[in-house]
Amino acid sequence: MQKAKIIADPDFIIGQVDPRLYGSFIEHLGRAVYGGIYDPGHPTADEKGFRQDIIEVVREMGVTIVRYPGGNFVSGYNWLDGVGPKERRPKRLDLAWKSLETNQVGTDEFCEWSRRAGTEVNMAVNLGTAGIDEARNLVEYCNHPSGSYYSDMRIANGYPDTHKIKTWCLGNEMDGPWQLGHKTADEYGRLAAETAIAMKWVDPSIELVACGSSNAKMPTFGSWEATVLDHVYQYVDYLSLHQYYNKEANDLGSFLAQTMLMDNFIQSVVSICDYVRAKKKVSKKLYLSFDEWNVWYQNDFDKTIMRETPWQVAPPLYEAPYTMEDALVVGLMLITLLRNADRVKIACMAQLVNTIAPISTVTGGGFWRQTIYYPFMHTARFGQGKVLNLQIHSPMYSNRLFDAVPVLDGVAVLNEDAEELTIFAVNRSQEEALLLEGDLRGVGDYRVIEHIIMENPDPMARNTMDNSSNVLPHSGGDAELSNGRLTANLPLLSWNVIRMGKIAR
Ligand code: AHR
Repeated sequence: MQKAKIIADPDFIIGQVDPRLYGSFIEHLGRAVYGGIYDPGHPTADEKGFRQDIIEVVREMGVTIVRYPGGNFVSGYNWLDGVGPKERRPKRLDLAWKSLETNQVGTDEFCEWSRRAGTEVNMAVNLGTAGIDEARNLVEYCNHPSGSYYSDMRIANGYPDTHKIKTWCLGNEMDGPWQLGHKTADEYGRLAAETAIAMKWVDPSIELVACGSSNAKMPTFGSWEATVLDHVYQYVDYLSLHQYYNKEANDLGSFLAQTMLMDNFIQSVVSICDYVRAKKKVSKKLYLSFDEWNVWYQNDFDKTIMRETPWQVAPPLYEAPYTMEDALVVGLMLITLLRNADRVKIACMAQLVNTIAPISTVTGGGFWRQTIYYPFMHTARFGQGKVLNLQIHSPMYSNRLFDAVPVLDGVAVLNEDAEELTIFAVNRSQEEALLLEGDLRGVGDYRVIEHIIMENPDPMARNTMDNSSNVLPHSGGDAELSNGRLTANLPLLSWNVIRMGKIAR
């Protein structure tokens, strides 16, 4: 059996996990909103039309913040269409997804849903077809207490309390030619800076995210960030990154290694932020918001609906099921985000319900948890606290992308309040189990509470409505900790959560 060694010491810390690292995303896309979180005819619907079974499962998943209302959708959205009496709200053509938007859910309803689901809202403003005025008015509508046109409009619409939205995105993927109102880096940078100033004048307590590149392969990646930051550095708090991965050419080894690209992507964006910081001679550090990430088989999706029968209300778009191997990549992406917790403060798995999502529903019927649900739930639940600088000595394998990929990837998070240390680890080997040996002597008197494993003899196994327990984690791992020495068998192609707690004296 292959062996890997890890060393963890609480004196060597990468950074504190911001709870917003466990964010998600709901866009007006497909059945995410209508038929997903909102289904007024559903037996569990509350008086606002929200499915309470979905609110419960979102709470169970541990989602802390939800980005809304897009995505590409936001670049053509007029938020005023979605507030006020529902019978007066216009039906609009959503050009991003060739759908018909009924506006029955808008800003107030979504903020109400978030309160019920126990999450914050990460609100995106339209910088495609709209601009400074719509954005600052929306901040006034959401966050200003009363006595002004838009705050009084919110009150008249039945929401006397402010929505208290702290985190705001200045547009979405403005570097992408597919984006309505697509801009050059200079055009976007100027608009984002002026919009940021106006929004912060309305509410100086808000935090702003500027658009970085839509993915690391964009031809403008690098120069886009540098130019945009030249304009916005002093006015914003975060720069965004987006990235989706999928398996290509049936090559699982390379698919599992793509998180090394994600790590490089984060490091490159950090370097650009720090370059602009140095150039501007300021002490302010910029942080990252990885506000779209997931596995997504975007090119495999049949776009017939959008092409041949457009302008439907909530058509089923991008509802592909997720496999065991997709769950491993999601676990590896979470490990990568945690390892960069010193700079990545916000992250949003894209998305939450039905559309490229960990939760799937039948409109009017049941729901099930996709495989990718579980690594997210484990990290959100047990990955709070300080990320330790874990030393990993692992056997390597090679593949199409890299000559040397560690078979083991992992991260350790110390929760000092709960006196718990958790190791999240993936064995990338397709051939054999891995013996993990850990030197945790610096950690003190800890014992193993639980070793959770997610594995399946079929890497393509998935959950469905009728077989929703096909791929589930179990607590049958054999991790042991004695005198600071950890041992654990990590089955081939497995996601592992080794939970340790302080021994009570
Ligand atoms: O999450 C789906 C889409 O992917 C979003 O609308 C867009 O921002 C990205 O390209």
